[in-house]
Amino acid sequence: MFEPRTIIEPFRVKVVEPLPRRTRAARAEALQEARFNLFALPAAEVTIDLMTDSGTSAMSQEQWAGIMRGDESYAGARSYYRFRDAVRSLTGMKHIVPTHQGRAAERILFTVLGGAGKVVPANTHFDTTRANVEASGAEAVDLVIEEGTHPESEHPFKGDLDVARLDALLAERAGAVPMVVVTVTNNSGGGQPVSLANLRAVRECCDRHDVPLFLDCARFAENAWFIRMREDGHGERTPRDIAEEMFRLADGAWMSAKKDAFGNIGGFLAVNDDGLAEQCRNMLILTEGFPTYGGLAGRDLEALAIGLEEVLEEDYLEYRIRSTAYVWECLDRIGVPLLRPAGGHAVYLEARGFLQHVPPADLPGQSISVALFVEGGVRACEIGTVMFGHTGPDGKQQPGAMDLVRLAIPRRVYTQSHMDYVVEAVAYVYERRASMGGMRIVDEPSALRHFTCGFEPLDWDPLVA
Ligand SMILES: Cc1ncc(COP(=O)(O)O)c(C=O)c1O
Repeated sequence: MFEPRTIIEPFRVKVVEPLPRRTRAARAEALQEARFNLFALPAAEVTIDLMTDSGTSAMSQEQWAGIMRGDESYAGARSYYRFRDAVRSLTGMKHIVPTHQGRAAERILFTVLGGAGKVVPANTHFDTTRANVEASGAEAVDLVIEEGTHPESEHPFKGDLDVARLDALLAERAGAVPMVVVTVTNNSGGGQPVSLANLRAVRECCDRHDVPLFLDCARFAENAWFIRMREDGHGERTPRDIAEEMFRLADGAWMSAKKDAFGNIGGFLAVNDDGLAEQCRNMLILTEGFPTYGGLAGRDLEALAIGLEEVLEEDYLEYRIRSTAYVWECLDRIGVPLLRPAGGHAVYLEARGFLQHVPPADLPGQSISVALFVEGGVRACEIGTVMFGHTGPDGKQQPGAMDLVRLAIPRRVYTQSHMDYVVEAVAYVYERRASMGGMRIVDEPSALRHFTCGFEPLDWDPLVA
């Protein structure tokens, strides 16, 4: 019997979008204009865009058909009920509040539950989560397990939350913790999954201290697949069954539906508590919209309801996780330092190992990102000192915990040959690493600086071939 080793893309292409091809000189000019900040580049200059997997998915024929069926009624649209029922059956939560994206749900939730004197523990807060917790006046504390902070550790669930430290924090700050957050998968920690055993232990700990548990569930389906693949006793379960158990362990969840719902925009907040839901809906009306559309068009709600089902298909998840691992394995084989093991939505280059002669304060991740773009037209994203460090009072950079370069893989968008091209581009830059230097920030805003700050190279000229 034919038993293929190749895991093929479980779709064929029906609509195509041309890829921008540019010369190196044109890219160098664009980079200079963008002050070496890849967020400031026009996408038309980018050949393979791996900046993010967020909002960049290709929708299916069913989703596009759903878009035509979208009901744009202001109140009580058919598409809202379709969306509500899809989220409710997945999460088991009573109240479903649509939002225009994940951070809108975060802002509403932390405006209601955060505030000065409060502390919000998580495995790792994503950057917008941290920003919204802190904007409310509360403190955001990351409690990922020790292995989660070591890029070389092969732990299968590096997104797990350190339950002993959580227990101690909940005892020490009793009354000041409005919720515990578990991010699945742990984006800022390398797209690493959280085990079901850990979620169960966190739940027990929350119960002991009478604190609610929330999931930041942008990549819940990828997390469910990792549980099936890596955790004993779950190999025969469907991804949906595992995902449902994950949600049943929580009191609430929010999602950026731009990831595991294949949406180009969208999000939601799901809670069981009636009083909390009412407060959130009141906030929603203030800034997002009426509770049955929450800042989204009916057609978006329709597409998301379909995406939430498609994302749990086994063929899709097998291809998704395997194709990310493929890129990881190709790069590992040629010796490129990587965050280990392969994550779900992205491959992370370990910048401190890649550019050993560039200290973290000289932003090695930014240098690699710049070089990948100028040499290969590949746009990656620095996740390190630029994103999580800060400028100290002496003007020196205080490094982040790790310096990573994320190659995030949009869902159902690129083929294996695109990924082979990316591997070649990374290999080319890696071979030339000795000629590269660091970067310095020349101007920065007060918050979320990575989006808008300007850079200049230190002791090298990436613009010259
Ligand atoms: C784990 C996680 N939480 C929250 C967000 C914020 O969602 P959005 O970009 O839809 O506002 C993201 C986005 O990347 C994320 O990865």
